[in-house]
Amino acid sequence: MLAELETQQTEALQALEAAGDTDALEEWRISWLGTKGRLKGLMGRIKDVSPEDRKAFGKHLNALKGALEEAFAARQAGGVHDTAPLDVTEPGLGAQAGRRHVITSTIDAILEVFGRMGFTPVTGPELEDERHNFTALNIPDDHPAREPIDNFYLGDGRMLRSQTSTVQIRVLDHTPPPVRIVAAGRVYRPDTHDATHYSMFHQVEGLYVDRNVTIVDLKSTLLAFAHAFFGEEAEVRMRPSFFPFTEPSAEVDIKMKIKGTWQWVELGGCGMVDPNVLQGLGIDPEEWTGFAFGLGVERIAMRKHGIADIRWLYENDERFLRRF
Ligand code: FA5
Repeated sequence: MLAELETQQTEALQALEAAGDTDALEEWRISWLGTKGRLKGLMGRIKDVSPEDRKAFGKHLNALKGALEEAFAARQAGGVHDTAPLDVTEPGLGAQAGRRHVITSTIDAILEVFGRMGFTPVTGPELEDERHNFTALNIPDDHPAREPIDNFYLGDGRMLRSQTSTVQIRVLDHTPPPVRIVAAGRVYRPDTHDATHYSMFHQVEGLYVDRNVTIVDLKSTLLAFAHAFFGEEAEVRMRPSFFPFTEPSAEVDIKMKIKGTWQWVELGGCGMVDPNVLQGLGIDPEEWTGFAFGLGVERIAMRKHGIADIRWLYENDERFLRRF
């Protein structure tokens, strides 16, 4: 009985292959898949099958049905060599163009602004080691930022970088100052997802090391960025903070208009490169000074486009993505 189903399948598929135009295809459909078609006939024969073979027969019959329907659909989608004339005046289906993700376009816009200020875009790896993520950044072995609960360690000395500050080290390892770079990319932290936190997000890191760089240069750079990105009325505020790789350190807030009211929004951290970092890389901190900053890209995009929840950025809901 099962062999019979196989023979039927071969016969059906050969007949389908031979169907040369739309009419023949429809004829095939009626003959095999129609309400009085051969498949229905085979189904009717299930009662003749012995009870112990009935399950296997049913299963094979279902598989045959699926195979024929699929082959028919594929044949329809592929089109038949129809003899009907092609009407070239019929309206087309309208091409659906893809678009860049709002995070990608935000990064490009940020890099463009810093590019105009003389910052060269560079990149660094997402898979890092503890030297670049912590040690060379003056983060001691017992620092809480190294806790396994706050990082994605691979268990072989490698980790997913938790900040783009790693790129500061990658650049200064090989490039003698003066250095003026900006680096954008993904970072990873096992943070619980909520409206403003995600476990994978993007940062933009800036680093400027030269002779006589001061905190005034840092603030005016951030202010120029805020003006270019959020408009001339935006303001920048630096609140004292702590990062092991900058001294002094600050949180960067930008004052911007959100739904008609002015609000201070925290975008990232910044500071003057700690002399210990420079020294550790063989750069004389008496001769060279620098500033660095690291901004959260999602937070910037959310503010710029009025996106209330960071999770929307990664759910790939087309209705959301089409907004940008
Ligand atoms: C840092 O990561 C420092 N590397 C920044 C820095 C660079 C300071 C250079 C000094 C010099 P922080 O952990 O605060 O700092 O993160 C910076 C920004 O990343 C935050 O202000 C926020 O905008 C964003 N951010 C942090 N955690 C998340 C998260 N889970 N989801 C989305 N954005 C986040």
